[in-house]
Amino acid sequence: MATQTGGGTNLRIDSDRLWSTIVETAAIGGTPKGGICRLALSDEDRRVRDWFAAAVRDAGLELAVDAMGSMFAIRPGRDPARAPIAMGSHLDTQPTGGKFDGVLGVLAGLEVMRTLNAAGIETEAPLMLINWTNEEGARFAPGMVASGVYSGEVDMDFAMARTDRDGIAFGDALDAIGYRGSEPVGRRRFAAMVELHIEQGPILEADGLDIGIVTAGKGSVWADGRVTGRECHAGSTPMSLRHDALCAFAAFALAAEAVAREHGPDGVATIGVAEAFPASRNTVPGEVRFTLEYRHPDLGHLDAMDAAIAAAARRIEGERGVAIDIEKIWRKDPVAFDAGVSAAIGRAAAELGLGSRPMTSGAGHDAFFAATVAPTAMIFVPCKDGISHNEAESSTQAECAAGADVLLRTVLALAG
Ligand code: GLV
Ligand code: MN
Ligand code: MN
Repeated sequence: MATQTGGGTNLRIDSDRLWSTIVETAAIGGTPKGGICRLALSDEDRRVRDWFAAAVRDAGLELAVDAMGSMFAIRPGRDPARAPIAMGSHLDTQPTGGKFDGVLGVLAGLEVMRTLNAAGIETEAPLMLINWTNEEGARFAPGMVASGVYSGEVDMDFAMARTDRDGIAFGDALDAIGYRGSEPVGRRRFAAMVELHIEQGPILEADGLDIGIVTAGKGSVWADGRVTGRECHAGSTPMSLRHDALCAFAAFALAAEAVAREHGPDGVATIGVAEAFPASRNTVPGEVRFTLEYRHPDLGHLDAMDAAIAAAARRIEGERGVAIDIEKIWRKDPVAFDAGVSAAIGRAAAELGLGSRPMTSGAGHDAFFAATVAPTAMIFVPCKDGISHNEAESSTQAECAAGADVLLRTVLALAG
């Protein structure tokens, strides 16, 4: 058996084979506009998991599924005493998601395994490929919940009890697709983790670079909110007597936007869902339920945004005679990735002649929780116009292959 390690190897992944897996799996939940709708623990999620399970078994890997449904595919190393080097990301998507967010990191990891198999290369440490459950948090909030439970930062009972819009609990949905695994969560430890992902922002494209070496990630707060006003007749109630929940909500939404702008350019705040009740055109809305999330890479700024958003809610309550309740369901402080793993990514990119730069991730990733367990960092590749969480999300075959080559080289260097 040939033995090669990261330094000096000319080994490359098979770009066509990687691309064909992206095209093939994109059909599972594929949308007419060319994106993917594959919400966590949906039937589409089950189908792509079944595809993944078959693919890793075909590649000769051992597959374990933990009690949160995360899938761990292991390729043995020469030294079974060593903890594995992990790769991976997620196969669930947004409701109008693209073909690359998360998918690339998992399928590139599979391609790394296939490349090593084809070249007959055995690493010192085992390698592990992870498909984390529910990274997106689109159906069950919060996101990154399986890596969160894995890391010990998120409580498993809390995760299992989260419900979707139809009131279905995460645990029941996991059982329904048959992916509540037998392994205790957190049992499969790794020595390091590398997550490849599309940038989901415009920086690499603008700089004309191939690779982002992600050294940090924004902190975020996710909340569920409710404005309570008073229902009344839309024709007979003078404007001066109203406590219109929707108008108060509109003022709050703009206030949250203003807070993010004050903490710009890195501060962001988003209200992705808002529903007014009783949803009748001639009743003044008495209630609005909404989601709120805000992010910043600096802890001090994140805390200041927290305080400013709460103050805006109190001000609008006073001005409009409504109640604004904000229940924080999740907070993840800003993350600093491991300097050693980042350096390994930088070396791999340089050896491949690829242009790279350090950067901060605005999006959340399972690597944020992995980083609390073991040395972790991320590789970014460009995506067209920086667009993501959109069916038009697009990276080229060459961009994906470059990222997968950097992933291959980085894990070879780490695994020996
Ligand atoms: C995941 O996509 C997130 O950043 O919310
Ligand atoms: Mn993602
Ligand atoms: Mn995403």
